[in-house]
Amino acid sequence: MSELTTEAATEPVVRESLPGQFNLQDLQPTGWSKWLQWIYDEPHWLFWLLREFWPIPQLKGWAFVTRYDDVAEVLENDVVFQVPFGDKIRKLNDHPGPGPNFLLGMQRGDDYWECQRQVMQAFQRDDVAKIVTPLAAKFSNKIVADAAKINDQTMELDAIEGLITRVPILICRDYYGLEIQQQEEIDFGRWLIAMSLYTFGNPLDNPSYERAAIAAGMRVRAIVDRSIQRARAHSRAPTVLARLLAMQHKEPTLTDKVISAYLIGMITGFVPTNTMAAGHMLVMLLGRPKFMDAAREAARAGDDKRLTRCLFEAMRFMPLNPGPFRICAEDYVVAAGTARQTTIKKGTKLLAGTESAMFDNRRVVRPRSFNPDRPQTDYMLFGHGLHWCVGAYIAEAQITQTFKALLVQKRLRLADGRNGKLKTLGPFPWHLSVKYDV
Ligand code: HEM
Repeated sequence: MSELTTEAATEPVVRESLPGQFNLQDLQPTGWSKWLQWIYDEPHWLFWLLREFWPIPQLKGWAFVTRYDDVAEVLENDVVFQVPFGDKIRKLNDHPGPGPNFLLGMQRGDDYWECQRQVMQAFQRDDVAKIVTPLAAKFSNKIVADAAKINDQTMELDAIEGLITRVPILICRDYYGLEIQQQEEIDFGRWLIAMSLYTFGNPLDNPSYERAAIAAGMRVRAIVDRSIQRARAHSRAPTVLARLLAMQHKEPTLTDKVISAYLIGMITGFVPTNTMAAGHMLVMLLGRPKFMDAAREAARAGDDKRLTRCLFEAMRFMPLNPGPFRICAEDYVVAAGTARQTTIKKGTKLLAGTESAMFDNRRVVRPRSFNPDRPQTDYMLFGHGLHWCVGAYIAEAQITQTFKALLVQKRLRLADGRNGKLKTLGPFPWHLSVKYDV
């Protein structure tokens, strides 16, 4: 695919985890998951074969839909194909017992609509242009400018943990209103990756993912609880948290535990997801000169809209994952009335193949060519249907500003040696250094 190779994590780790101890090694793939990782890295040939010859494969209680129309049908039919994440979300939102649920763990219904309304009242659409964009630009420019000088001419930066993950964390601090100490920043990102992996990328219920996520959840909840207490005591800052606390007077369901669950949901949706998305974009740009040239040209022209399009078109070639998981709540015929119609039995676990759908030439024109001017309907990067990403505009703003800061640098390229090789934490991009001229 590109000259970028992947190395497993090499940082020192603790082998045995004690209860409550957070162990990075718990996140690394082993056994079967290494094979799954391989398919995950290079899936296009396999998806093509399936779309053409076996579009709705089923095996051992699992189903996979691969064509655009069938993926859309499944994700639009959320009453039948339900989100399976609620128990895990609730487990991470309190200890020992289940805490409140959050959007991606909820089925359609009054609770879901109330949660969505309150979240959108706290995270207002106007904030994206007024607060998130300038904050992302400020943090990204500073990090890129302060990178290590390796000689008189060249700077080097770990573009993932040092930039792509760090900027969202700083936005959680200044926009959300979380009290994240400087010395906690790196761990905070890793804890969130553990929580996201356990909740959304763990259909086989890997016990080591659970162990890491429970330990991470305790630590993240402590930061969120501390932030709620301090904001109530003396904060006047115009943050999301301050808005949520002000809303409490009129909203009896908005207890501190619910506020904590909303914040945790919106941080777990943000930091790890943007790390994965922007990490994949960076890999694509560095590996494919045509993608890089288009993005660089947009960045240098100061054309943010065009840059966003270039970046998300690059991501279409390497999205977050093959697609979201669902569980089938009643027997249902997918693609009814066609030659490929297939009955999915109640209880079947299903993967809605959004990655494959975005390459289905029955619906997407010339899917293998890089075209930033595609219609929005070609994309399922942010999902489809009821659970379409509530943070999409925040994501676009932060990622665009972060890449802009990098792409305007002279001769942006991979760093030499080991630093220039992608390292992953579980399936998440973790470290990849770039260099540029002063
Ligand atoms: C480029 C970055 C991002 C991508 C590619 C992305 C992708 C997605 C996808 C595919 C879904 C649907 C999952 C499903 O149907 O199972 C989703 C939902 C969601 N995302 Fe994002 N996301 C991103 C950034 C964010 C950010 C920045 C936030 C928060 C600030 C966020 C919060 C959420 C939430 C809360 C949901 C659930 C919405 C619901 O159930 O109604 N995401 N996202």
